[in-house]
Amino acid sequence: MKKTALFILATAMAGLGMAQTKEPLPAYKNKNLPVATRVADLLKRMTVTEKAGQLNQLNGGAFTGPALNDAGQQAKMQMVREGKVGSMLNVIGSAETKAVQTIAVEQSRLGIPLLFGYDVIHGYKTIFPIPLAEACSWNLNQITANAGVAAKEASSAGITWTFAPMCDISNDPRWGRVMEGIGEDPWYGSLVSAARVKGLQAGLDNEHILACVKHFAGYGVVESGREYNYTDVSRVALWNKYLPPYKAAVDAGAASVMNGFNIFENVPVSASKYLVTDVLKKQWGFKGFLVSDWASFGEMITWGYAENEEDAALKAFKAGSMIDMESKVTFAHIPELVKQGKITERELDETVARILSIKFTLGLFDTPYKYNIDGREQSTLFTTAHRQEALRAAEGSIVLLKNNNQALPLQTSSKIALVGLYASSKEDMFDFWIAQGDYKQAVSLREGLEKAWGADKVSYAAGYQADGSANEALVNEAVTNAQAADVVVVNIGLSGKMAGEDRSLAAPEIPANQIALLKALKATGKKVVAVVSSGRPLVLTATEGLVDAIVYSWILGTESGNAIAHVLSGAYNPTAKTVMSFPYAIGQIPVYYNHYNTGRPKETDGMGNWYSRYRDIPREPLYPFGYGLSYTSYTYSNLQLSKTTKQKGASIQATITVANTGNYDGEEVVQLYLRDHAASLIRPVQELKGFQKIALKKGESKQITFTITDDLLHFYDATGAPVLEKGKFSVMVGGNSKDVQEATFELQ
Ligand code: NOJ
Repeated sequence: MKKTALFILATAMAGLGMAQTKEPLPAYKNKNLPVATRVADLLKRMTVTEKAGQLNQLNGGAFTGPALNDAGQQAKMQMVREGKVGSMLNVIGSAETKAVQTIAVEQSRLGIPLLFGYDVIHGYKTIFPIPLAEACSWNLNQITANAGVAAKEASSAGITWTFAPMCDISNDPRWGRVMEGIGEDPWYGSLVSAARVKGLQAGLDNEHILACVKHFAGYGVVESGREYNYTDVSRVALWNKYLPPYKAAVDAGAASVMNGFNIFENVPVSASKYLVTDVLKKQWGFKGFLVSDWASFGEMITWGYAENEEDAALKAFKAGSMIDMESKVTFAHIPELVKQGKITERELDETVARILSIKFTLGLFDTPYKYNIDGREQSTLFTTAHRQEALRAAEGSIVLLKNNNQALPLQTSSKIALVGLYASSKEDMFDFWIAQGDYKQAVSLREGLEKAWGADKVSYAAGYQADGSANEALVNEAVTNAQAADVVVVNIGLSGKMAGEDRSLAAPEIPANQIALLKALKATGKKVVAVVSSGRPLVLTATEGLVDAIVYSWILGTESGNAIAHVLSGAYNPTAKTVMSFPYAIGQIPVYYNHYNTGRPKETDGMGNWYSRYRDIPREPLYPFGYGLSYTSYTYSNLQLSKTTKQKGASIQATITVANTGNYDGEEVVQLYLRDHAASLIRPVQELKGFQKIALKKGESKQITFTITDDLLHFYDATGAPVLEKGKFSVMVGGNSKDVQEATFELQ
């Protein structure tokens, strides 16, 4: 007995003694050491399972307090505790992210912190215009500022990483995701993508979040605009048209890249060694990390590319892809693949090192709760300043497409008949990607007009039903209101819920019941102003002839109603220009300004009637790329080139005079397009290569100069090498892609 008691005492004292001799701090925990040293030290301590855990991303679901006690969530938390998870998505709020981070940091063997990802696409709580609309502002500073607000709000809620920006060029408004992108132009899309990365990430302090360039690569060419569909794109098209925006975002420092759901050369892009390793990592020198799209590693089995889960995990890994978002095949099979020698531990280490590096760089090992500051979430979300930024962004995103006889702006003394189901629906001010936005906090068009005009001057009627079916009573009510008013403002288009992932439409057009309503309203003889809500360009050909003005308001988020009211009243003079062509008819899709000439472009080319066109509609879109009106008017004159020949390495100036000839002060987007007339690979008829958004007071004129350098003149061959060839180039400058002045020079 005595002996045993003594033994216990001795053991306890030994334990005490051990605790007193301070164990040296493991190198990875020493914040004074360089990141690479810390990563190497940590990797030495990790088991293969823990390394595979860093490649495992799980969905949090609704992590609001009680969810942590839910059995499914408990199992996930146990995995976190065992170091089997490296990041999570959809864990919401500072309290929740902190609770989960605590498990990772304080209860797992090595205390490796998690990254928390979330789709912060155009705002977190304060919702900004959809990215496509925002791109129509041609205001890169505003775009950066918008992303900055989104990052500030999301980071205050413990989010470390957003799955944005989407850099997929698309020509197809049938694809619901065009709302999330940059439009149809690679040069401008590159600037927008970089501006977004800058706003999201700047400084990587606790008010910013990691960006994720998606969907790498070529997801915007989904066949027929159908979501999750096959994609087929040549290397030449890839390099010249589709890759530039991803590249610009990577060059802007984006920390991560997401593999698309799509296919390249009949290989799922997650397993495309060409895209992931050769292009992204080797040619571009990308040092960050990759994440799959939701379950897309596993989906390679369904595509018919992988035989089973193990094969899918191996193929994705060997191509250079990394984190597996929710298909769980990587975590389940990597340890076994390492054991079998199909993946070396060194390869695994190189991959995991990239993820650990960013966690060290963010400071998460040293200050794991750096985002979770008490009270910050409450004081940061949905502030007046953020709403004002959202209002500025929304005003700047609205495109005026038609304004016959200066139908707009409207007098604030006029009586308005507001018509349209969506005009009174806050929910429809929001799309699919609204993060933590609360539609109840959004300003509807009805509220916006009532605020600007006074409720007594605005009558309201729904006019149509959302399901597209005819309803005579609703039309009659709208007509009665119209007859009693001075002007009709009719909000047509699509529900905000029709914009986003899995929202492909075979017919992106104004529904028939809305066209019938427009006809009835026109018959009243009143001035009719259409406000079109939609996350994509819609076919407006039938609408065009039935209304006096068209205001394209996209989906504008929190401040929708106020922004539209400001445009209608003239408090804001529109400045936005389209970044996607508006098709004349569904069958014309895809239609885009930077197309190729064909061998038979027009009837004047000597082939009579036998030229590239449809017999039943015009060749051109209804509204071209770069198009948008103002309440004032601009004239362009006297395009001059500084030289008519240019040597390689030298530059040339294009100068044009732009005059505000109307009755309002305004801002104009002056656009520069180039054309390479003959090259070893055929070139588009026009390519945007410059723009300046300038303020012009009524009566003022300015000389605008663009400098043309070699980097604007080269194209890429199929390997991605830039090619600069001598010959004739056209310079086109104007207020949209079709309405331009032209001059030429020779590159020698
Ligand atoms: C699928 C979407 O394609 C992707 O853009 C998104 O980031 C992930 N789901 C996560 O929600």
